[in-house]
Amino acid sequence: MSNYEIAVIGGDGVGPEVIEEGIKVLDALGNPAFRFNRFDWSSERYKRTGRFIPEGGLDRLAAFDAIFFGAVGDEEVQDHITLNNLILPIRRRFDQYACVRPAYLYAGVQSPLAGRGAGDIDLVVIRENTEGEYADIGGRVYQQTDQEVAVQTSVFTRHGTERIIRYAFEEARRRDGRRKVTSITKSNAQGHGMVFWDEVFDSVKAEYGDVETESLLIDAAAMDFVRRPQDFDVVVASNLFGDILTDISAITVGSMGLAPSANLNPERVHPSMFEPVHGSAFELIGKSQVNPIATILAAAMMVEFLGEEKAGAAIHGAVSGNLAEGRIRTPDIGGGSSTVEVGDDIVGRLSD
Ligand code: IPM
Ligand code: MN
Repeated sequence: MSNYEIAVIGGDGVGPEVIEEGIKVLDALGNPAFRFNRFDWSSERYKRTGRFIPEGGLDRLAAFDAIFFGAVGDEEVQDHITLNNLILPIRRRFDQYACVRPAYLYAGVQSPLAGRGAGDIDLVVIRENTEGEYADIGGRVYQQTDQEVAVQTSVFTRHGTERIIRYAFEEARRRDGRRKVTSITKSNAQGHGMVFWDEVFDSVKAEYGDVETESLLIDAAAMDFVRRPQDFDVVVASNLFGDILTDISAITVGSMGLAPSANLNPERVHPSMFEPVHGSAFELIGKSQVNPIATILAAAMMVEFLGEEKAGAAIHGAVSGNLAEGRIRTPDIGGGSSTVEVGDDIVGRLSD
């Protein structure tokens, strides 16, 4: 039996609530066994001590098999501070360059798009996760004057662009679905970085003759995620475009509360991190109304990445069962049950 050491960062808002449900499900698996180490890194900690991550904290994370993350974002701390001091440093430091965000329309869940049934939407967005528009490069001068200038620079490296596109093609082969990769840019307006991305895409795709390809501009892609979601299989996009598209893909399959995310270091040199796509959702704090399924599906992605395919399939089976029956569910998908009740129901189905 394998044992895994998991670093747990509940973070802010509803993060700790959903993470506990994920842990409950992982514990219920029995095999493999997990040891959870909880870190209190959060906006609370920042307000108390001036730091999200204590001195040497990232080094401590390096030793874990994986990181299980809740959410970050606080009403009293500006978002760019929380993000640039907690989640983004983890993604970068551990070179978690492949952000994998599947969207699947489960039986028993209503899509806001008319006429879509179970399995009609089944895509995965591969989001570049370490550079692009999220590169923390820029500055401001002449602040608070009429001459103020703000510069925010996007960064596209050959190394970074090529590896994420290659990852998307490999994913298309692994999924064995339609074997299609759609690349998203805005190369009509961004003639440097995005034209470069298109060129790299064209050169990598030449190596994957068995995979169908398509290139779309982000504005058209946003429309097509709504108009023809069934046509997408693997979608590869820059950091910002992938961020935006995965809110759209999440809602087309019913709720942000069902959308998991994996921040992968595919080479396994560093730990990868697994989290729900939804954020801290202040409006739901402490009400036990947040849907834990996004986090539970992130836990499934974690065990699968650790090589525990059977355990991952068991979690998927339990979640599918809960959603198909539709009796115990949170308000975001039309139910009246609590976060904990949904977690308990999924645990109860694990042995089915
Ligand atoms: C996400 C979130 C984050 C992102 C924020 C919290 C930095 O929106 O994971 O999608 O933009 O990457
Ligand atoms: Mn987002």
